[in-house]
Amino acid sequence: LTFHLGEEETIVESNLKIKWKKKVGKFDKKIPLKLDGTNLQLLEIKKNNQPLERKQYQKTKNQIILKNDQEKFSLQIKVKINPKKNTSLQGLYVSGDILCTQNEAQGFRNITYFIDKPENLTTFKTTLIADSTKYPTLLGNGELIKEKKLKDNLHSVTWQLRTPTPCYLFAIVAGDLFKIQSSYTTSITKKKKQLEIYSNCRDKDRLTFAMKCLKSAMRWEEKVYGLEYELNRYMIVAVDSFNMGAMENKGLNIFNSSLLIGNEKTSTDRNLKSIDAVIAHEYFHNWSGNRVTVRDWFQLTLKEGLTVFRDQQYTSDCYSKAVKRIEDVRQLRKSQFSEDASPLSHPIQPQSYAEMNNFYTNTVYQKGAEVVRMYQTILGEKKFNEALRYYFKKYDGMAITVHEFFECMQKFCKEDISLFKNWYVQKGTPTVKVKDIAFNKEYKITLSQKISNDKKAKKLLIPLSYQITLNNKIFKKGIFLLKEKEQTFTFKLDKLGDKPLLSINNFFSSPVYLETNKSLEENIEQLQKEKDPFGKWDLVQQIQKKLYFQFLETGKLKFPKTLLDIYGEFLAKERDCEYLTTLIDPPSVGDLVNLTKEIDFNLIKKFINHFTKTFIKAHEKTLLSLCKDCCNGKRKGKSYQIRALKNKILYLLCGHNKSYLSLAHSQYKKSDNMTDTLGALTSIVHFDKDEKVINNFFKKWQKDNIVINQWFVAQATIDKKQVINSLNQLEKNPCYNVLEPNKVRSLIGAFISNSFQYHHESGQGYQWVSERIIHLDTINPQMAASLGKAAFQLYPKLPLQQKRMMLKWMKKINKKVTSANIKEVMESFIL
Ligand code: BES
Ligand code: ZN
Repeated sequence: LTFHLGEEETIVESNLKIKWKKKVGKFDKKIPLKLDGTNLQLLEIKKNNQPLERKQYQKTKNQIILKNDQEKFSLQIKVKINPKKNTSLQGLYVSGDILCTQNEAQGFRNITYFIDKPENLTTFKTTLIADSTKYPTLLGNGELIKEKKLKDNLHSVTWQLRTPTPCYLFAIVAGDLFKIQSSYTTSITKKKKQLEIYSNCRDKDRLTFAMKCLKSAMRWEEKVYGLEYELNRYMIVAVDSFNMGAMENKGLNIFNSSLLIGNEKTSTDRNLKSIDAVIAHEYFHNWSGNRVTVRDWFQLTLKEGLTVFRDQQYTSDCYSKAVKRIEDVRQLRKSQFSEDASPLSHPIQPQSYAEMNNFYTNTVYQKGAEVVRMYQTILGEKKFNEALRYYFKKYDGMAITVHEFFECMQKFCKEDISLFKNWYVQKGTPTVKVKDIAFNKEYKITLSQKISNDKKAKKLLIPLSYQITLNNKIFKKGIFLLKEKEQTFTFKLDKLGDKPLLSINNFFSSPVYLETNKSLEENIEQLQKEKDPFGKWDLVQQIQKKLYFQFLETGKLKFPKTLLDIYGEFLAKERDCEYLTTLIDPPSVGDLVNLTKEIDFNLIKKFINHFTKTFIKAHEKTLLSLCKDCCNGKRKGKSYQIRALKNKILYLLCGHNKSYLSLAHSQYKKSDNMTDTLGALTSIVHFDKDEKVINNFFKKWQKDNIVINQWFVAQATIDKKQVINSLNQLEKNPCYNVLEPNKVRSLIGAFISNSFQYHHESGQGYQWVSERIIHLDTINPQMAASLGKAAFQLYPKLPLQQKRMMLKWMKKINKKVTSANIKEVMESFIL
């Protein structure tokens, strides 16, 4: 490939060497060669260097179709594209002054005519030609093999990738970039690698954290899986305009700047953790995704589910195991369970798609990661790691399916787990019912599974990790493999009257809803005895759920005294501030909307307020002194852990009583880090009328394109009816830019997550969001579709009146939009 790069005009010349693959069967002239290509201006096409006449090929909107009369030939194609006009941000596009690419899933067809399928593995030689002043840095995949000065202030750089790779991993970057570099020696073969991180000059002082994370991810994967990086150079580039978080292009990752650029001054602790996780995630893709890749896009979970699982393991090892699991499970229940209960529900291996980009979903990613975790639970950590090592070795350099992954796991498992395969094709969250009874020196546990009311739903193999305690001692522990609709497990007891206590689905071993025959009182009793940190948190969730149901039934919240005492004990005794933060977190809208068939936002709000008030009133003094201890350095722990607790308490207190706002104001003034600044800002913006702080923050950070995103988020999430007016103002702010996905997410996306206002009875939220989706469809269909999913996911569960209003808007959108992306999403709701 040769690129003559220019913002508004780029010429792409390709020289394709095409050969019939013997592996797929005998050469067949009847099968035509189809090259994908969209929005390309074809300038020239030659076969074996001979110009093709118009009648020798067929050209449609998205393809060129050629006769296939030779087993081996070459094609020379020249096209013209306009990166500046490419606001979809797929293919070659402009981000600020940088030219960059995004080719997963099907962006490469916007660059040149090609077989745009992941099973088509190709080697690449890429020459970039550009102006040396505007684009002094020219990057591509693989190794740098040539650099040349040309006339007219042009220069050219050639990159070569010798390992066959699918074109969705192809990337180039051109710009005036700053870089930091470092070298890294692998621990197994002791090879030296060059690591480079690039950004625009604005962010040049904020790249060292990313470098540290990259090295730590490399070390970890070497240690845990014995896997090393194979190229000599690993590059990561930050760009401001990016549809997703980051992309694992071979040897040349491209990142959303908000997930690469960071230090304590300008990033929150949570941002920094995400940066660490995303760098690891994209790095791990070099094995799970790039070297072992997918045969087709239906296999997406093969690489994404597995890589998410691996980045979870990494984070769990680097930070806190319990907190990481709590965060992931909470996220799964909030986002994936609700997706699976909505019209968007699909199995982790989807059966069809109109637009592949719509299927980078919570289900494929998060449930996909849970499916990998279940293999680990069934096989045990040791066998599972052996199976994975075997998998990477056996399929290195190949494009495969989830079936091959399953076969590797089966090979290392004594038990027949074929039933497990149904997890790939069955949609919906299963419910597991647990009944236990001790009788006549026997303890019987009966488990049953149900997926939905759908009679055709497939039975699953569900691994349930359990522990039975008797007289405060562990009596039995292990894993139940639930394979039938209903199954009973029996244990012999020593004495009549023995009362075993069961905890099941421990550490959330399976992504299911659990229904037990335990009462609220029994749950509370269990919580008093529970020692496992995750187990404690999960019991708190079960208890909150029971209180919510009780509230819906009776209209009243009866907050048990013992529960308040338990909270008191948490506050008094738990030393790990970050973990304590997760324990005392009150229920949120996201936790509750999934629990009922119909949603009543007024009741949800009433319950949350009531719950929070009761909790705070009972422990106000303790909370305040804890908060002060966190400020005064009296609490031990890592600073990010202490800040998490401090800011959670600050937010709770400010929401409870405005007199606490003075704490937030003084924290805002004193803060030297973004976590405390934003913690204070959010409390002030959400609970105070004071505009001064909002303006102060803006003045200070308006030049920082990353930090300012948070300023939009804080204001778009205000739970007051007037928020619509602010949204309209913010949209006119010079820092806002519809062309930049981070801004759209910070304003429109954040507002959709502001449930009480977005779902306001007036319907003003629906109107505001829908109008923007219609507009975005003409700019960036992928973004429009992802907002559409979030905006309408709850549709079937809304009260009738709201349902009507939402439907009206969905119909309007469907009538006006043109992209396959948003059409596919809308049709799942209204057809
Ligand atoms: N391969 C994806 C990026 C991607 C997503 C490309 C959708 C095209 C369409 C990348 O590995 C990824 O999964 N990124 C995540 C972050 C990750 C930590 C889960 C993202 O971008 O959100
Ligand atoms: Zn990924």
